[in-house]
Amino acid sequence: MSGKEIQSYFEFVLPLVKTAGKVIVEAKDIEIEIKTEIYDLVTIYDRKVEDILIKTIKKQYPTHKFIGEEESSAKSQISELTDDPTWIIDPIDGTANFVRGFPVTCISIGLTINKEQVLGIVYNPYMDEMYTAIKGQGAYMNGKRIYTNKQSDIQKTVINYEVSLARAEKYRDLYLYRFSHLIGVVQGMRSMGSAALGLCYVANGSMDAYQCDGLYPWDAAAGVVIVREAGGAVADSTIGKEFDIMNPNFIAAASKPLLDQLLAVEKQGDDERLAALLVKKANIGCR
Ligand code: IPD
Ligand code: CA
Ligand code: CA
Ligand code: CA
Repeated sequence: MSGKEIQSYFEFVLPLVKTAGKVIVEAKDIEIEIKTEIYDLVTIYDRKVEDILIKTIKKQYPTHKFIGEEESSAKSQISELTDDPTWIIDPIDGTANFVRGFPVTCISIGLTINKEQVLGIVYNPYMDEMYTAIKGQGAYMNGKRIYTNKQSDIQKTVINYEVSLARAEKYRDLYLYRFSHLIGVVQGMRSMGSAALGLCYVANGSMDAYQCDGLYPWDAAAGVVIVREAGGAVADSTIGKEFDIMNPNFIAAASKPLLDQLLAVEKQGDDERLAALLVKKANIGCR
């Protein structure tokens, strides 16, 4: 796949994402549906945005594949990632924010080719902030190059530790384990409710690090490319385990030295206990 082809996909999808963003800002009388649990929400707007994106891209590129949050939920299955160009879509990342009008809400769309993450677009329509990256070409916000802040000292680090999933019983002990190890070491912690934007805030230098367990491919498919292209580092939160976009438990940091320090904190505890706490996702029913 040539760089030119990826560029042409990018140019096709970018205005489409912007148009889909209008559906989010113009949403009215938002009715909340519970998918599986009280904290697992969906609205007609999530489905509408995903529909627009998949249908329009499919029409233009009929051989491309898709992994979308809401189509996966509908069939209770996440399609396997293949070597084909695959658009991984989170139509509204931060649905719990969206239904409250809290403007940390975005569309996230990533592209993989040969299972490699090559393109990421994250759009916050409330702020009109468009974060983009193509592998090897840097990261941008509204067309302006962005960089991580290069923080390399864990004690001076503010980390966005995404805790929404700690609401689920099966994740609670793991989150408490990580929280209790981090809290005494870093300068501060935050939790904002959008994984994709959390990654973009690391990419643009306004946050030093981001960490979350138990996410899904669509939460991380775009943001991870954007962090990497902005000069940041991403790794699975278990030392030595390779980052897997289909099963993202990970830390993203402004610099590699900071990433290594954050990983080392995870190691301070009892390895066996941590291993036992890492939940293997059997299905997509918990987010
Ligand atoms: C959620 C957000 C949140 C994270 C949850 C995700 P959604 O995505 O990214 O920050 O903590 O685990 O599921 O459901 O709003 O698309
Ligand atoms: Ca969701
Ligand atoms: Ca999400
Ligand atoms: Ca979503």
